[in-house]
Amino acid sequence: MTGNNLAIIILAAGQGTRMRSRLPKVLHAIGGRPLVGHVLTTAGRLEADHVEVVVRHEREQVVAALAEDYPDAVFIDQDEVPGTGRAVQVAVDALPADFDGDVLVLSGDCPLADADTLRSFLDAHRAAEAEATLMTAVVEDPTGYGRVIRDADGGVDRVVEQKDATADEASVSEINAGMYVFRVGTLRKYLPSVGVDNAQGEMYLTDVPGLLRRDGSRVAASVVSDVTVTYGVNDRAQLAEVGRLLNRRIVRRWQLEGVTVIDPATTWIDDDATLAPDVTILPNTHILRATSIAEGAIIGPDTTLVDCEVGEDAIVRRTDATLAVIGAEATVGPFSFLRPGTVLGARGKIGAYVETKNAEIGEGSKVPHLSYVGDATIGRGVNLGASTITANYDDVNKHRTIVEDEVHTGSHTTLVAPVRLGAGAKTGAGAVVRKDVPAGSLAMSVAPQRNIEGWVEKNRAGTGAADAAARTRVAE
Ligand code: UD1
Ligand code: CA
Repeated sequence: MTGNNLAIIILAAGQGTRMRSRLPKVLHAIGGRPLVGHVLTTAGRLEADHVEVVVRHEREQVVAALAEDYPDAVFIDQDEVPGTGRAVQVAVDALPADFDGDVLVLSGDCPLADADTLRSFLDAHRAAEAEATLMTAVVEDPTGYGRVIRDADGGVDRVVEQKDATADEASVSEINAGMYVFRVGTLRKYLPSVGVDNAQGEMYLTDVPGLLRRDGSRVAASVVSDVTVTYGVNDRAQLAEVGRLLNRRIVRRWQLEGVTVIDPATTWIDDDATLAPDVTILPNTHILRATSIAEGAIIGPDTTLVDCEVGEDAIVRRTDATLAVIGAEATVGPFSFLRPGTVLGARGKIGAYVETKNAEIGEGSKVPHLSYVGDATIGRGVNLGASTITANYDDVNKHRTIVEDEVHTGSHTTLVAPVRLGAGAKTGAGAVVRKDVPAGSLAMSVAPQRNIEGWVEKNRAGTGAADAAARTRVAE
């Protein structure tokens, strides 16, 4: 118990029909997290005594997606009675009988309500000493939302759902945002009186304000000035729009922390990513999941980093990397593909058209061109010549390649694992290295070259090559 006397109920039992998806609506992701994950993250910042998530549609899938990241959330099953009123009722019934505080109701499909907005919403409710407080907004197009109907004194009288509204009611532009604070006793008292006699045959939570007013109790409204915090996701067009708004907010936060973002519209940063001051992000770059980028690094353009760690002053251009660590002052790209387990040391280089996987590449070592380095440990000061390849897979098992400090391989070397190249060793161009190379040795595996003079003119008479060869011979 933190003693702040607050329970948070997150509604996530609905089907989300308008998404037309196999995936439950609340699990669709923006900013690297499911919609309902954002609501849970925000709820976590409010330090409530209880956080409950009401589930029903695809409940196993929803619980599985959230249980690990939000271990404090309690999942409550809604029964076959439909509607937001029923959802809140089952959650309230699951609270301890002696819980006597406020209940903040949030929707799993409204991810943009941030902790500051919700804190002032709670403060407004407590200051008003109301039985219930609705979050409302005045919008240009209220279609689809419940309308807030005010009485002659300007107080909240009731909420009318779009489908039950008269033409007059439908013309009201103040909407119910779907976020509320109630005294728990109010919900215990009034939810049993909420019926299903409406256009959708559902128990509407939005009936509670009207019932309270009939008993002469006070219902307050907190009108938000930034309507975007109320935006919900009902279809995929709204998913993209809400995702864009979230991204704009995240990008702006990092800009104010000292990150240069050249083109916010094409820069996507997940909520879990962290960036240090003086990082520069070039256009069309995706910084995803728990990626962290240290001071002075330059990322992009056209780069995707998933769960990566980038060191100070590193440069990463036109690269796709997942679960990779890139050392300080290292350079990566263009057109590099870093797969999980890549660890590039300080001042190292992974260059053009190089793929790496499960590979430690030591300080100052270079893999500059056209290589595949997989399941390898590469020491310091190594240079793998253009097109050096680790042949790590024999159709059954993966094997390791070990390259010790200061090794230089010739162009087009194939390292057939398991194999070890000792410190300072070298390989000739085109070498196929199947045996360990002792420290300081030169490994050659290509047969000596033999030139058969006059072969082209004899065997390819009449071709351009033969003619060219003949002309050269005459000129000599
Ligand atoms: C609801 C409000 C409406 C408000 C709008 C704001 C009601 C009756 N209407 O309408 O006044 O303007 O939100 O976005 O409350 N859910 C359950 N169990 C259910 C039904 C829904 O948990 O039986 C959950 C859904 O998963 C969703 C949330 O409740 O997260 C809202 O449900 P939704 O069907 O989207 O309600 P709206 O029609 O948007
Ligand atoms: Ca909704």
